[in-house]
Amino acid sequence: MTSSTSNVPNITLNNDELIPQLGFGVFQVPPADTAEVATRALLAGYRHIDTAAAYGNEAGVGQAIHAAGLGRDDVFITTKCANDDHGYEQATRALKASLGRLELEHVDLYLIHWPVPAHDKYVETWKAFIDLQSQGLARSIGVSNFQPAHLERLIDETGVTPTINQIELHPLFQQTGLRHEHEELGIVTEAWSPLAQGRVLDDPTVARIADAHAKTPAQVVIRWHLQLGNVVIPKSVTPERMVANFDVFDFGLTDDEMTAIEALDAGERTGPDPDTFIRPATP
Ligand SMILES: NC(=O)c1ccc[n+]([C@@H]2O[C@H](COP(=O)([O-])OP(=O)(O)OC[C@H]3O[C@@H](n4cnc5c(N)ncnc54)[C@H](OP(=O)(O)O)[C@@H]3O)[C@@H](O)[C@H]2O)c1
Repeated sequence: MTSSTSNVPNITLNNDELIPQLGFGVFQVPPADTAEVATRALLAGYRHIDTAAAYGNEAGVGQAIHAAGLGRDDVFITTKCANDDHGYEQATRALKASLGRLELEHVDLYLIHWPVPAHDKYVETWKAFIDLQSQGLARSIGVSNFQPAHLERLIDETGVTPTINQIELHPLFQQTGLRHEHEELGIVTEAWSPLAQGRVLDDPTVARIADAHAKTPAQVVIRWHLQLGNVVIPKSVTPERMVANFDVFDFGLTDDEMTAIEALDAGERTGPDPDTFIRPATP
């Protein structure tokens, strides 16, 4: 994809493809509203949208590209293989079904949504992903919610390292160990629930830093992600928040401010535990 119309920096993946570092998530955006919400996001400047088969709203994302008057190469689209579509044949069918709903010939990034170790099919699923990428149906392939043992097994058994691991990550759950593991393996870290679904926005430290920069707490938290090197995909259906969350490229956090936010890590997930999560209807 190209991002000539956007001021968002790109990150280079381990297959030399580019991903815009700031994107827009559509989890919990109702399917009937998604075309309108995603169109508004694209018109606000976002060029990267994160959806999933399990969100039930891929069709609206595809419609938004046309509604915003953008070309296919102007946007980066991620979708994810649902937990009940693990396995070689099922994952292959799942991507083709997602492409049908998106009305696209390829996605920019296809992710295994959760490892579901209890079903022990994520390696087979990954083998399908490798073939789907070589067929041109996904420019890049990656995973989500993978723990170090899951990553190591994929790499050991297939020789193909995921480009990205999309994980729960925010100031209250900073995933320092897993981020270091990603760095060693050449995997980009992508943060889901980057605002802790709003829970971190009334924190006094974040509020103090926001005041110092005349920015909002959400802008400070998104800036923190960008400076850590994360890909970050905040979600908002509120037009003013959507625009404000994108307005994060005219200021920077100091080292002291980054350290102050680092001290907020409570080490607690707000979402499911990837080692045990198996439900098909996933976040
Ligand atoms: N891979 C996975 O397993 C997984 C899991 C969860 C999420 N994700 C992805 O990550 C994306 C983001 O995560 P998320 O949606 O869970 O949470 P999030 O982006 O951390 O937070 C979204 C919540 O924060 C509110 N919000 C957004 N901007 C705000 C602002 N400027 N001020 C105050 N409140 C604000 C939103 O409200 P309004 O919408 O009402 O404005 C919404 O309630 C998802 O949409 C999805 O694409 C992936």
